[in-house]
Amino acid sequence: MKATINGRELAWDETGSGRTILFLHGFPFNRQLWYNQMQAVPKGWRGVAMDLRGFGESAGSDDPQYTMDMFADDAAALLTHLRVRRAVICGLSMGGYIALAMQRRYPSMVGGLILADTRATADGEQEKQNRLQLAQRVQAEGNGVVVDSMMQKLFAPVTPYTKPKVAEFVRGMMSAARPESIARALLGMAVRPNSEPDLRNISVPTLVIVGAEDQITDRGQAQLMARAIRGSQIEVIPEAGHVSNLEAPEIFNEAVRRLLASF
Ligand code: MLT
Repeated sequence: MKATINGRELAWDETGSGRTILFLHGFPFNRQLWYNQMQAVPKGWRGVAMDLRGFGESAGSDDPQYTMDMFADDAAALLTHLRVRRAVICGLSMGGYIALAMQRRYPSMVGGLILADTRATADGEQEKQNRLQLAQRVQAEGNGVVVDSMMQKLFAPVTPYTKPKVAEFVRGMMSAARPESIARALLGMAVRPNSEPDLRNISVPTLVIVGAEDQITDRGQAQLMARAIRGSQIEVIPEAGHVSNLEAPEIFNEAVRRLLASF
């Protein structure tokens, strides 16, 4: 589906009816990331998977950076468009940074959180520099440079052998991303704030998920969030990396189902 929301055309998929779970994809993916989860949305729940601005079928904007706050504003505006006052927000990696921005900016809209393969901390100086350089290279050379570097670290070592279709699917999503959106999201991630102090204010049901072999946002980061968020649950998925929802969909979906059943 598509509509003009918060000043630009945004695209999303919907399934089921009832309480809402909103899925926010990571970088540099699109809403197709969630195809397994959308198929498994339990009865009594409505799944909404959106394309973030500039990704998939959602229009971009001229802003030099796509900040996590901008993405959060778009997501909140989509929920308002759908007449949803409160939703469970499920974000993977950059989607998790956005979920935490939503929690900060729209706490009354966040009824629950699923923070998958993500972290609350901000970038360090070196990481910021790397993102700035990568953003320049993407604009000069195209997105192949990001696709190649991400393919090295996205998966558990076994995944490309045991699930070659998953690896190719992820490569396809990244190859389809627009270089200017990749660059703007990189610059936006580089300036995201440290969300650690906010974790103590979270009082909604929260599930932290991490692939045991995530090389981008590791288990230590997940444990830090789970310790700081009162009453949260943590699921560490064996033999899964940074895209644990695709590498181990059954375990991921079962953990989501358990959280949703607690409402
Ligand atoms: C993502 O998967 O969204 C990114 O790897 C997050 C990041 O680069 O920090």
